Formats: sequence, structure tokens, C-alpha cells
Amino acid sequence: MIKKAEFVISNSDPGKCPNPDRAEIAFIGRSNVGKSSLINALTGKKDLAKTSQKPGKTQLINHFMINDRWYMVDLPGYGFAKVNVKVKQGWENMIQTYLLKRENLCGVFVLIDSRLEPQKIDLEFLLWCGTEGVPAAIVFTKSDKQSKSKTALNVHKFLKKMEEIFEEAPDYFVTSAETGQGSEELLNFIDDLVKE
Ligand code: GTP
Ligand code: MG
Repeated sequence: MIKKAEFVISNSDPGKCPNPDRAEIAFIGRSNVGKSSLINALTGKKDLAKTSQKPGKTQLINHFMINDRWYMVDLPGYGFAKVNVKVKQGWENMIQTYLLKRENLCGVFVLIDSRLEPQKIDLEFLLWCGTEGVPAAIVFTKSDKQSKSKTALNVHKFLKKMEEIFEEAPDYFVTSAETGQGSEELLNFIDDLVKE
């Protein structure tokens, strides 16, 4: 249960993030996939993380303190074509450094748009997490945007790809920031992660 959620700080330098003295989980995924919206849905605070219809809204590493005890982190999206190459590389370096160096990180949720067929960039990112030992789980987003059967089909296709890459497929959740689908299940999973 999330009783309290507060913004702490935004950083472009992973080295300047808050002291890694408490458990932390982070949300990552393509620009516009719904990372910030999911944070707002999970915390029940609709303006906690800034969202936008336009991709590229979140550009920094954003720390939120949850229940005065653990951190939830909103990251910029990957794969956003409309920023110039230098900016893009900067974000990618920042995200990679954060994911590889953040010692208190106990879980990373890779968000996947449930409306789409498996996308190369997402599969590659998950493979990178696996190779680097970044503890990743999958969150399918925007399930309210199409029929249940279409969501189920895309989830099935994605998981099949995961089985081709990994011996053990990552944990996954099907969610909607609009209807709250999957929130409880995801929060229970996060609770276990930050407890350890
Ligand atoms: P960046 O910060 O740009 O990387 O994007 P983001 O992944 O944080 O996405 P954001 O939460 O800003 O959402 C992008 C758009 O998708 C917004 O217009 C949201 O309202 C919409 N959106 C996000 N999640 C959902 C969802 O579950 N259902 C519906 N219908 N719309 C959603
Ligand atoms: Mg965002």
C-alpha cells in the first residue's frame, strides 16, 4: 500500500542521486509508453510525475520517496527519435550508468505498450538488462486502449520472444494507468522487492 508519495529530486548526473541508503525500484521503457502515468496511478497522485501526450517529456532521473521508506524512480524514455543524436546519446549514457551503478536498485520495470507487436528496441533493451544482470520485470501498459483479446495476443507474442531469449521469462504485469488494471498485483510485487 502506498500511503505517502513525495517528489525528492531530479538529476541528470546519476552520481548526484540521493544516498543509496534505502531500497529503490525504477520504471523504464520507450518514450510515451506510460512510465510517468503508471507512477501516478500506483501512488494515487495524478500530478506527481509529469506526463504528456508528446514523447520525450521526462528528461531526468526523478526520485520519489514512498511511505518515507523507499524510492520509486521515473526515468526518461529510450528510443525517442526526435531529439538530436547528442541529446539521445546523453540520455542513453545517463540511463545506462544509472542502471549499472545504482547499488540500491532492487528492481527495474520495463514498460511495453500492449497495443504493439514485439518491438526490436524493447527486446534488445531486455536482452541488455539480462546480459548486465539488471533485475528486470515487464509491465505491459495501456491495456484499456484495445480489446482484451488484442492485449492478450500481443502479450503472448512478446512472452514467446522472451522465451526465445531467456531460459526463464521475466515476471510480467498487464496494466492500465487509466482503469488501474494490474496496479494491486504490481504493488504487491514491488512491496516484496523493497522489503528484502
Ligand atoms: P516520456 O516521459 O516522454 O518518456 O513518456 P512516459 O513513458 O512517461 O509516458 P506518459 O506517462 O507521459 O504518457 C504518455 C501518454 O500516454 C499520455 O498522454 C498519457 O495520458 C497516455 N497514457 C499513459 N498510460 C496510459 C494508459 O494506461 N491508458 C491510456 N489510455 N493512456 C495512457
Ligand atoms: Mg515520463
